[in-house]
Amino acid sequence: MNKKIVLLPGDGIGAEVIQSAQEVLHAIAEEYNHRFSFEIQDIGGAAVDQHGTPLPETTVSACQQADAVLLGAVGGPKWDDLPSQLRPERGLLGIRSALGLYANLRPIKGFSNLMHASPLKESVIKGSDLLIVRELTGGLYFGKPSERIDGGESVVDTLFYTRNEIERIVDKAFQCAQGRRKQLTSVDKANVLESSKLWREVVEEKKKDYPDVLVEHLLVDAAAMKLITNPTHFDVIVTENLFGDILSDEASVLTGSLGMLPSASLRDDGVGLYEPVHGSAPDIAGKGVANPTAMILSTAMMLRHSFGLEEEAQLVEQAVQTVLDNGYYTADIQQTVGRKVGTREMTALIVDYIKSESASHCIQSCYA
Ligand code: IPM
Ligand code: MG
Repeated sequence: MNKKIVLLPGDGIGAEVIQSAQEVLHAIAEEYNHRFSFEIQDIGGAAVDQHGTPLPETTVSACQQADAVLLGAVGGPKWDDLPSQLRPERGLLGIRSALGLYANLRPIKGFSNLMHASPLKESVIKGSDLLIVRELTGGLYFGKPSERIDGGESVVDTLFYTRNEIERIVDKAFQCAQGRRKQLTSVDKANVLESSKLWREVVEEKKKDYPDVLVEHLLVDAAAMKLITNPTHFDVIVTENLFGDILSDEASVLTGSLGMLPSASLRDDGVGLYEPVHGSAPDIAGKGVANPTAMILSTAMMLRHSFGLEEEAQLVEQAVQTVLDNGYYTADIQQTVGRKVGTREMTALIVDYIKSESASHCIQSCYA
């Protein structure tokens, strides 16, 4: 299989974890005879420094021609005082929007031997395995107007959704639920917001098309509480852009570290952008201690969702799982047993597992 991948390292630890993703993909390509070509482009603060904009035209057009995009992270204190149009985050929002990536999938599954690293009780989080389906190109993030008015003394942001935008993300979430435990929680604020009332209406209409899926509606405040008091209640959560942003950071505490969480941002033709949920972590950038796991798991999502390479995706996930089970961990995980390793060593352990496992598969199937 030949695939064109654009790499957007961005800022902070982005370049370090992108390198890990590339090493994993080299190993997969070699073991399974695929050809992945890579093109590196600037985004975020790095692009502001190089080109005076967080999303250069060259980056957009390279991504538009790619089969998939891997993104490290954007942002950092260096660019905090820039006017909002120039902030690194605008690069990320801009590329999501330019590529039409409306469906953000954030799977959250605790790794069993990292449970103790969560501030939540093990008895509460044990067995939690959920997927947040976040609408990514609408809502408050993109609604206009969004500006200071009355000479700067007042301000307006706009929460705008078309019925069609709600329908397509709700469909996506139902389809995800059908591939999992068939339970869908739609999160809104329908006791206050008009947009949420339409959201709820759409979910009620759509559920007729997916009779095998059990549907519930939860208000976002109640959902936030339930997520940490009873996380095993959830299978798939579908929600609008800002609620999804907040709930997914909250849900990350179920896993012990934000450094474990991957994400996929998709549209309907298979093209996707894959990024860790964590940010650029400027405090540890360049020190070689960043956790590459979320980036590597995002790479597995790319193999699955954009390239249809399920076996390869599972091997990468199994490699991560095994290395963690063997007691290796990075500095972001509060742990006293096992062996603390840096970014490069963690990556090498995962790559070694991929090579040895695929070699043993070949021995079994080639000589069976
Ligand atoms: C995320 C991030 C982004 C978002 C920021 C960096 C713009 O928090 O991917 O969750 O709010 O979508
Ligand atoms: Mg966020």
